[in-house]
Amino acid sequence: EASSSPLTPAAARPETRGTTKLAIVGAGAVGATLAYAALARGAARSVVLTDINRSKVEAEVLDLRHGSMFIPQAEIDGSDDLEICRGADVVAVTAGAKQQPGQSRLDLAEATVSLTRTLLPRLVEVAPDAVFLMVTNPVDVVTYAAQQISGLPHERVLGSGTVLDSSRLRDAVARHCGVAVGNVHANIAGEHGDTEIVLWSSATIAGVPLLDWRPFSDHEPLDAAARQRIAEDVVSSAYRVIAGKGATNYAVGLAATRIIEAILNDEHRVMSVSSRLDDFYGISDVCLSVPSLVDRRGVAETIDTPLSDDEVAGLRASARSMREVQARLGL
Ligand code: 2OP
Repeated sequence: EASSSPLTPAAARPETRGTTKLAIVGAGAVGATLAYAALARGAARSVVLTDINRSKVEAEVLDLRHGSMFIPQAEIDGSDDLEICRGADVVAVTAGAKQQPGQSRLDLAEATVSLTRTLLPRLVEVAPDAVFLMVTNPVDVVTYAAQQISGLPHERVLGSGTVLDSSRLRDAVARHCGVAVGNVHANIAGEHGDTEIVLWSSATIAGVPLLDWRPFSDHEPLDAAARQRIAEDVVSSAYRVIAGKGATNYAVGLAATRIIEAILNDEHRVMSVSSRLDDFYGISDVCLSVPSLVDRRGVAETIDTPLSDDEVAGLRASARSMREVQARLGL
């Protein structure tokens, strides 16, 4: 007799995977904070950290292990040898030159791409089935380079992109309007950097199109002037953090952790990660962030997001800027 059970029959259930392993390359401010965030959230059963600076990586691993009774069960290890990354499910690359006050992310392109050329082939050798999450800046150019260098399917090499910037945006909109950040659905797209754009036209607050949002009586309207202020604030916010404390680490650590969870848990989550665009509004052959589906494969799809003419123009400007840098670096 046909069953109307809502449960999936055992035979049709996806195979349960074994333990999950996250490898983090680079134990600087971003890598170490990513390890901390991933462990605190229980993102992976095993977290390994690697850095050329042996005493730094050892100290970070010890410090993280010393907190192990307060976090979900996890193995924590590290080494200055990339061999420690063997068999990883996700490799997150944070290694690279540090952005000095006054420098733009693009100023780091040459140094990071050359480091990627050294690191990536060895990482692919030890973790051939991993999804590679590039975090090092300029992340879109680095993701593009990593795809070329690794020879892996493009969907398996993504960049953290504007997930962080979108969080900055949602925080700003939420505080401006007096609603919880989780009620705001709004994305930054394009370059994770100076040419990034806000996708205002598709943004919503609790299901209400953001552009139709009526402010609470004790709140300022979210008019064009307010939106412009918020957009400028988001674009410049990393510079302010770097000026004040030398690096950004907490928010990027959390953003990267959230992407890693979406991958390892096969969440099919829409996030503005950086991926290779293929005729997205006519844009191809660059890595940029647009709302995309993130799952165990990496970036499975870009979402067909309606864009205003200004947003399309902004995205094209981002693409031109990326192409210039790529050409300069022979990519
Ligand atoms: C950030 O946006 C600097 O890309 C880094 O925090």
